[in-house]
Amino acid sequence: MKRSLILTVLVLAAACTKETTAPPPTSTQPPPKPQLAFVRDAHSYANPSEVRVEHVALDLKVDFAKKQLSGTAALRIEKQADAKTLILDTAGLDIHSVKLQPGDASAPFVLAPDDPILGRKLEIPINADTAGVTIDYTTHPDARALQWLEPAMTAGKKHPFLLSQSQAINARTWVPLQDTPQVRFTYEATLHVPKELSAVMSAENSGARNADGVYHFKMPQPIPSYLLAIAVGDLVYRPYDNRSGVFAEPATIDAAVHEFADTPKMIAAAEELYGPYRWGKYDLLVLPPSFPYGGMENPRLTFLTPTVIAGDRSLVSLIAHELAHSWSGNLVTNATWNDFWINEGFTTYFEHRISEKLYGHEYSEMLWQLGLTDLKDELSTLPPKDQGLYIDLGGRNPDDAPGIVYEKGALFLRLLEETAGRARWDQFLRTYFDTFAFQPMTTKRLLEYLKTTLPDVVKRVNVDEWVYGSGIPANAPKPASQAFARVEADAKRFAEGAPARSIDMSKWSSHERVHFIQSLPNLYPERLESLDQQFHFSDSGNSEVLSAWLEKALDSGYKGVYPAVERFLTTQGRRKFLKPLYERLAKSDIALARRIYAKARPSYHPVSQSTIDEILK
Ligand code: BES
Ligand code: ZN
Repeated sequence: MKRSLILTVLVLAAACTKETTAPPPTSTQPPPKPQLAFVRDAHSYANPSEVRVEHVALDLKVDFAKKQLSGTAALRIEKQADAKTLILDTAGLDIHSVKLQPGDASAPFVLAPDDPILGRKLEIPINADTAGVTIDYTTHPDARALQWLEPAMTAGKKHPFLLSQSQAINARTWVPLQDTPQVRFTYEATLHVPKELSAVMSAENSGARNADGVYHFKMPQPIPSYLLAIAVGDLVYRPYDNRSGVFAEPATIDAAVHEFADTPKMIAAAEELYGPYRWGKYDLLVLPPSFPYGGMENPRLTFLTPTVIAGDRSLVSLIAHELAHSWSGNLVTNATWNDFWINEGFTTYFEHRISEKLYGHEYSEMLWQLGLTDLKDELSTLPPKDQGLYIDLGGRNPDDAPGIVYEKGALFLRLLEETAGRARWDQFLRTYFDTFAFQPMTTKRLLEYLKTTLPDVVKRVNVDEWVYGSGIPANAPKPASQAFARVEADAKRFAEGAPARSIDMSKWSSHERVHFIQSLPNLYPERLESLDQQFHFSDSGNSEVLSAWLEKALDSGYKGVYPAVERFLTTQGRRKFLKPLYERLAKSDIALARRIYAKARPSYHPVSQSTIDEILK
């Protein structure tokens, strides 16, 4: 097994170096490469080593009244000659019929009983000459990937909105498919939506409104299922240039275009680091505030929370992050969710490199340090078995996976960089993305590749401790920001009794404010009140400053922030902000937590709902 992996790696590497005679790869055509061996994925029922879905054609009606998608998914398959069954993942789907040929009667199929995490296995018997199947189906109104927003939950307040979040294993709640990141398919789609709305997908988007409400999409690059995405709403498009631009509601578009104006520069910086952007366009979609994540790297169209629109472009490292996924994650893809660090650790490292290129070393050190604070906080809550980069998620929903792989993974790559030297390391990463583009990557395969390519580096860092061990290894790089050192001195002074007005924050970035707050010990309510009077943290329009402040205040038992907490929890639904605040409220005032949640829950995405349900159950 080990042998054959090394061999595959070598063959691929060789195929990549003798490119002198072959035409250069165009941006729309991935170089044809053999699929690497499949490994077991505990989060999918699919049998891709026998039958593999290679193309999906959707024809769906978007029904806001019923909160349903209904129509057909036609799957083209590639199979072993003796394959007898196509196995798909589904969850909450009503399957009306399965046809092996258009015009046939429904073929037999078996839907297994429901598993609360994995959903229902769909088994379709196939023949020697079966080239594909067409499934007629309807989604459930509670489909975990989808959120159906009432007009009141949008910026414009006039039209409903639909948004999806397929990562990690939610694609199966809106399309029957092989929901494992090891299977890649191209896709096309026809969507029928209300005439006054626009539809977009993680595919080629024209940006134009179609008066008849019918939208066609094509996605020529093969993607794993978790990158399948859809949004429908009152959207307008404004280009930055011919490669990137912003989709948003009319009420949000101006602020969004201003906030993310560095996007073209970020793409250029990313390409300079690790090679050509291979997906054609890179657009942003600003969603209503209930979007459960900061961002989601849907190919060609990053999905974004509006909570990063701070007015001063201070939170745009999130764009750098989602853009970086166009290499780490979307090109080279974690083979299973246990290998999630291969997506997020690499991306967080790459994100910091883009920030450094655009905004300088001192700036990116601040971001590294903020990340380190989060990492330490989370590590202190996790059992040792969940503290490695590789995490066994069997039996759990990967949506609830620990987040430590982001910063711990990034630190590990920074250690490799510091050990190899930047030039050599960058060359390594560039070749890695080229070699494994459009392929799944396991932790094992990556470590083999690292050992063959940078043997001296691997000998000098303790790889196994990083990947399988707990905590932060002693050889971890130590990010250091001078600005933060000054901020810490002020926090210490304040903690020792200096008055709030003696601190001058007027020239501080939001990162310095966040670091100041996080550097404070728990304080008496009067002290926190004096800070709030001086600096108005409770009214901050910067969501990172606000959430850091509210967390610190609740940790200190300062009830004066309750109204601000309630406002924040009822006006946005980003899980990263909701979770720590509900956890704290659940400890200090469970009745209040439940009252706020009763009001807010209908406006949260199913992903956030299930996390908060768990906290307040
Ligand atoms: N791909 C993730 C979001 C995700 C992870 C969705 C796992 C579902 C399961 C995305 O790239 C991400 O990491 N978003 C972060 C922002 C980032 C700057 C740390 C977020 O949402 O906060
Ligand atoms: Zn990410």
